[in-house]
Amino acid sequence: MALGEGIRQQIRQVLLFFVCLGGSLVCSETWRYSVAEETETGSFIANVVKDIGSGVEDLVARNARVIFDDYKPYLWLDRQTGNLLLHEQLDREALCDLTEPCILYFQVLLENPLQFFRAELWVRDINDHTPTFVDKDVLLKIPEGTAPGTSFQMESAQDLDVGKNGVQNYTLSPNPHFHLKLEVSDEGRKYPELVMDQSLDREKEPELRLTLTALDGGSPPRSGTAMVRVLVLDINDNAPEFERPVYEVQVPENSPLDSLVVKVSATDLDAGINGELSYSFSHVSRDIRKTFELHPITGEVHLKALLDFELIQSYIINIQAIDGGSLSGKSTILVQVVDVNDNPPEIVITSLTSPIPENSTPEMVVAIFSVRDQDSEANGRMVCSIQDNLPFLLRPTFKNFYTLVTERPLDRETRNEYNITITVTDLGTPRLKTQHNITVLVSDVNDNAPAFTQTSYTLFVRENNSPALHIGSVSATDADAGANAQVTYLLLPPHDPHLPLASLVSINADNGQLFALRALDYEALQALEFRVGATDRGSPALSSQALVRVLVLDANDNAPFVLYPLQNGSAPCTELVPRAAEPGYLVSKVVAVDGDSGQNAWLSFQLLKATEPGLFGVWAHNGEVRTARLLSERDAAKHRLLLLVKDNGEPPLSASVTLHVLLVDGFSQPYLPLPEAAADPARADPLTVYLVIALASVSSLFLFSVLAFIAVRLCRRGRAASLGGCSVPEGHFPGHLVDIGGTGTLSHSYQYEVCLTGGSGTNEFKFLKPAISNLPQLSTERAESHTFLNGFGFN
Ligand SMILES: *[C@@H]1O[C@H](CO)[C@@H](O)[C@H](O)[C@H]1NC(C)=O
Ligand SMILES: *[C@@H]1O[C@H](CO)[C@@H](O)[C@H](O)[C@H]1NC(C)=O
Ligand SMILES: *[C@@H]1O[C@H](CO)[C@@H](O)[C@H](O)[C@H]1NC(C)=O
Repeated sequence: MALGEGIRQQIRQVLLFFVCLGGSLVCSETWRYSVAEETETGSFIANVVKDIGSGVEDLVARNARVIFDDYKPYLWLDRQTGNLLLHEQLDREALCDLTEPCILYFQVLLENPLQFFRAELWVRDINDHTPTFVDKDVLLKIPEGTAPGTSFQMESAQDLDVGKNGVQNYTLSPNPHFHLKLEVSDEGRKYPELVMDQSLDREKEPELRLTLTALDGGSPPRSGTAMVRVLVLDINDNAPEFERPVYEVQVPENSPLDSLVVKVSATDLDAGINGELSYSFSHVSRDIRKTFELHPITGEVHLKALLDFELIQSYIINIQAIDGGSLSGKSTILVQVVDVNDNPPEIVITSLTSPIPENSTPEMVVAIFSVRDQDSEANGRMVCSIQDNLPFLLRPTFKNFYTLVTERPLDRETRNEYNITITVTDLGTPRLKTQHNITVLVSDVNDNAPAFTQTSYTLFVRENNSPALHIGSVSATDADAGANAQVTYLLLPPHDPHLPLASLVSINADNGQLFALRALDYEALQALEFRVGATDRGSPALSSQALVRVLVLDANDNAPFVLYPLQNGSAPCTELVPRAAEPGYLVSKVVAVDGDSGQNAWLSFQLLKATEPGLFGVWAHNGEVRTARLLSERDAAKHRLLLLVKDNGEPPLSASVTLHVLLVDGFSQPYLPLPEAAADPARADPLTVYLVIALASVSSLFLFSVLAFIAVRLCRRGRAASLGGCSVPEGHFPGHLVDIGGTGTLSHSYQYEVCLTGGSGTNEFKFLKPAISNLPQLSTERAESHTFLNGFGFN
């Protein structure tokens, strides 16, 4: 078809050429008209009358016509006027596109004669189109860090208008990163390029929006825009950065395992893997790795082992964060372990002196010890104390050392052991306390003498004991201890050096038991006094003494001894009784003594047998034998009475007495003076005198002396009064007792030996000596007795 059109055009040109050659002025010139595109229909273009060179009437007549080359009726000819009018609006871009100038060729044809006039209609461009970008949204991906000066080519904008009305210029919205540069292509077309002025930073501005404007040269110019979105592509140009250069945390040392210590956090401005972080320790010690755990993703640090302030007070942990591009950031965690009062105080006894001697001077050092608390601050400050009311003091010395000293001298006998509790308390919260017990013994010093349980001991023993009889004990205690309290007993030397104490008693040195070494005879020795000592074994030894009084108890070991009438004598006494004697006549008086004392010497008399019963009676208490009735001539002259003298001992001992009585005629001198006779002291029987003296005596020794004298006198007188006479046995006989008051109760006396030295006359008796001598307590009395007796001519 294109081919067909071309052929037709050629045919027309040939035709035109022919027309011009055949006519005269027809082809001489080409009319040229112009109209702006888009001009309104009916608009006047030109008047052809003048150009044709004939009258306007010819136009009708000659059927003037306008014929465009493409046969389209762009114009029509008003044959009445010759005006060329626009038949339709013209669009230059539709008619010519980019061809410039845009010329529509046509002919004005006249018939009769046939005449052609060539004409051109120049369609002028008006700026009726706007520059347009094909792609109104342009995405430009530019890696950050791209060097300045780099240019990025942009698509050019299209404008259907031509020439000046086409795209003439481009502008870019103002921005710091790019400027626009216009380049001209090989075809001479301008196109824009973005030239980088300043490199991009994704982290600051990940994306830019630029407006690219295309301008045409119309008046007024038209413009079209495209949005250029610049997407900044990340590069790993940022290292991770921790939010803090140093993390300072305080962790109580008793924090449990797995507790959170701190959470670290770093950021990386980069995107994607370049911003993906992983946390780790950086060059840390094994200790730290053992103790802490850093989670690579969360950044949490947890405790992996227990802390101990006392071992490590702080940790410096270097950490790092690494991004996917291997860039790293560093930080440090400073862990301060906070002390918790988890250590009780400790006490270390450095020295302890025990036992300590009693009575030692105050301030004696008993113990040295040190205290320690591994905690710090208040948790480690300590207060040290011991119990109140102990005689000890705590003295702080240097540093944490204390000494425990005595406050005053100690007395072992009061207290020999002290349990001292040393209490150390720290000032932490809660308070922790440690106690240490020490036992301080007090050693003995011999500061106590043995002490007898009594200052004096009175011991009773019955006489006639078996030798080595235990007669009693003394006891002394010693408050001291050990050898200082070991008591030894001993007999102290008697005051009287003559007392044979050692032969009488002995003492067990260990237990203080006293023994009689030989049988004691009450009648010989009624009491014994001596001192015993008790000595401890301290050094020096201490001792004390006590008095021991041994009282010998009487035993009924002496039978009554009849002094009168004498028995066993060669010439028994015979009492003479006148037959005219009244009843109650005192025939005789049996005098008996008993060597014992008390009840044992209490005598009673009893008539056992009589030649003529009922004639005589004996008074049980005083031994008086009296007639019971009147005597008569029928009564026999000779009588024999058997009497019993019995003591009151248990069992009783007795002696029998035979009394011979001879009844004589007439009156005879009574045996004992009648009361009226006794009233005259001059005529009084000497026996009575002596009895009176005896009554006045308080000394038993003296009394005995008197008794002995009486006995002898009685016997002598009896002998003188009797026909055959009485005899006193030669030799010794014991001293005796006498019933002074006629009651039969006899007081005891000491035993003296007396001796009958002659058969008659004076000086029949000689006073010898006491049976037991060297009685210290009696020495004075005895001396008095000597004097007294001497005074009575007993030598
Ligand atoms: C394009 O526009 C810019 C800014 O308006 C102007 O400076 C420049 O001279 C223009 N260039 C041309 C060729 O008109
Ligand atoms: C001291 O302690 C010991 C042992 O606990 C105890 O046997 C003793 O009776 C105590 N002494 C005193 C005086 O408390
Ligand atoms: C120390 O002695 C006190 C009092 O006798 C007692 O209560 C405590 O248990 C003792 N302490 C030690 C450690 O023996």
